[in-house]
Amino acid sequence: MIRFFEDFSLKNYNTFGIDAKARFFFEFTELDDLTEFLQQNTSWREEQFLLLGGGSNLLLVHDFDGLVIHPNVPGVQVVRETRNQVWLEVGAGEDWDRFVDYCVKSEFYGLENLSLIPGTVGAAPVQNIGAYGVEVKDYIDTVNGFDLETMTSYSIPAEECRFAYRNSIFKNELKNRFIVTSVVFRLEKFPEFKLDYGSLKAEVEKRGELNPLHVREAVVAIRQSKLPDPMELGNAGSFFKNPVVDAQLAEKLKADYPEMPAYPAEDGKVKLAAGWLIEQCGWKGFREGDAGVHEHQALVLVNYGSATGEELFQLAERIKSSVADRFGVELEPEANIL
Ligand code: EPU
Repeated sequence: MIRFFEDFSLKNYNTFGIDAKARFFFEFTELDDLTEFLQQNTSWREEQFLLLGGGSNLLLVHDFDGLVIHPNVPGVQVVRETRNQVWLEVGAGEDWDRFVDYCVKSEFYGLENLSLIPGTVGAAPVQNIGAYGVEVKDYIDTVNGFDLETMTSYSIPAEECRFAYRNSIFKNELKNRFIVTSVVFRLEKFPEFKLDYGSLKAEVEKRGELNPLHVREAVVAIRQSKLPDPMELGNAGSFFKNPVVDAQLAEKLKADYPEMPAYPAEDGKVKLAAGWLIEQCGWKGFREGDAGVHEHQALVLVNYGSATGEELFQLAERIKSSVADRFGVELEPEANIL
């Protein structure tokens, strides 16, 4: 099935709820429909493309004068199985959290800590979604999709996806070029628990027996207590990445602010908590018009109703410069800004 529109409002296609327009909008459920569309409309190849999944990591600052492609491929299928593991091919259009729920109920384990993350399955590898000590890269086997430049479809094994903290080949070399149509996950039939992050263990223990369903419930409870539901309050999750800084700067800051959260990162560097830095600068709970900073998590920017993309962008810029002035740390957006 395909759907095609001109001058199409993206309000329902981004979790900030920004009312920006796309010049053209194309949605497909089967790869053949996409290739047929692109073959018949060759002019698109020179046009600007925007690949849009669930729009849960996107700030639309302006209307988009090009073609938005929205892959809505459905389906979950077991493609291989051993005694300990199972491989599932999942359509890019499937809702992420519905898929996690299905896995836990089917006794396919690994993704429980990633419960309740907004967005689609197709977007998960793009920014290598992560939460509570787990990154999706550890459970991805291959990413399947269509390359707009070569006009061919192919599979990319996880080892070649250049997965890193909230990053991958799909945000870099293959940005707006490779359309993810499905993802193959490799999950465990026997649970392995990762409970070291923050209060997760305590939250699971409250529920009694240690099992993946209780891990899922605990993650959902923690997220609901801190993170706004995009259906109720427009937001795109963490707006900035947690910054990774040199040990020298981290030590200097630690001397001035001993209570500052800091975690060891690669190459002797140190990862800081952007939410903490932003809160220290006084932004938590800030609101101007309908653009604001969430009252329970300073890393989350929110749209209280009719904030424009420009207003949210300006707010993000002000936050960024105040953190740079006070701490000498450059924040980098996690969300895609268009
Ligand atoms: N903190 C504050 N004030 C705040 C927010 C956080 O002091 O307003 C402190 C907390 O007390 C804690 C530390 O900062 O000591 C870390 O906070 P938290 O556990 O809430 O996690 P985060 O680093 O702010 C990251 C991810 C989230 C993910 C959580 C849990 C990034 C950019 N964000 O947030 O991911 O859910 O860890 O694993 O890495 C997302 O990517 O959209 C997202 C929500």
